[in-house]
Amino acid sequence: MIQLQDVHKAFGPKQVLRGFSLHVEEGKTTSLVGFSGAGKSVTLKHIVGLISPDSGTVQVDEESIPDMSREQLYEMRRKVGYVFQFAALFDSMTIAENLAMGLIKKGGFTEAQIKERVSDSLGLVNLDGFERRYPAELSGGQRKRAGLARAIAFRPKYLLYDEPTSGLDPVTTAVIDELILKMKQELGVTSLVITHDMQSAYRVSDRIAMLFEGRVLEEGTPDEIRNSQTKVVRGFVEGKPELVEEGTGKP
Ligand SMILES: Nc1ncnc2c1ncn2[C@@H]1O[C@H](COP(=O)(O)OP(=O)(O)OP(=O)(O)O)[C@@H](O)[C@H]1O
Ligand SMILES: [Mg+2]
Repeated sequence: MIQLQDVHKAFGPKQVLRGFSLHVEEGKTTSLVGFSGAGKSVTLKHIVGLISPDSGTVQVDEESIPDMSREQLYEMRRKVGYVFQFAALFDSMTIAENLAMGLIKKGGFTEAQIKERVSDSLGLVNLDGFERRYPAELSGGQRKRAGLARAIAFRPKYLLYDEPTSGLDPVTTAVIDELILKMKQELGVTSLVITHDMQSAYRVSDRIAMLFEGRVLEEGTPDEIRNSQTKVVRGFVEGKPELVEEGTGKP
């Protein structure tokens, strides 16, 4: 289980998280939605220990992330796969090398096992046979899938996705959404998905939380969020800025 409780985080005078709490249930997919700049990526970075909170708690499996040593963080990241907002593949390496790198670092795999794990992971994201390609030879959607394959090569217990479908056409978006569902069904992964795409959020999520003004304004099932009566939530999901303005009382 991933749990953030009353997290505050500021960068200089800018208060980004102001009492943020979220509980990511095991075996489920939770989406965190919110406006650009709301602090969604900052939240994910707290979970993998790239950012420390000013106050509040961040826990993965009951262990406190901000209290971990560098070695403990390294160990923890083996069970938390991170699919970056921009695929973040190494351009000078083939797709197979990109996927194998983490496994080689982790150690304990034979060359044959690594090869098998790489091709299995590519198969799971429908990129069979892409081992020898370079990132520059892939489309945006294929690159996103390769980033996902790299994250699952570890067979992590958790997957954190930062905007897995941004910049993709609706069909490719649906393919990625199917993959997110497949990770849950076939690998039993617990996921936290950051997105601004409500159609995706409705498709993949068991729970949706909306981040607004530094905290979770509302959390519920896709149906509950779709039918929310809260003005800001409705304004966001229906794409109506006037409702957001009314909800906050400020333009
Ligand atoms: N390392 C940092 N130093 C200073 N400010 C930062 C840092 N990281 C993020 N911020 C600021 O925190 C705020 C939230 O950023 P974040 O990247 O979490 O937004 P987001 O919700 O992921 O937005 P988007 O949907 O555009 O990706 C922004 O104002 C950003 O400029
Ligand atoms: Mg972001």
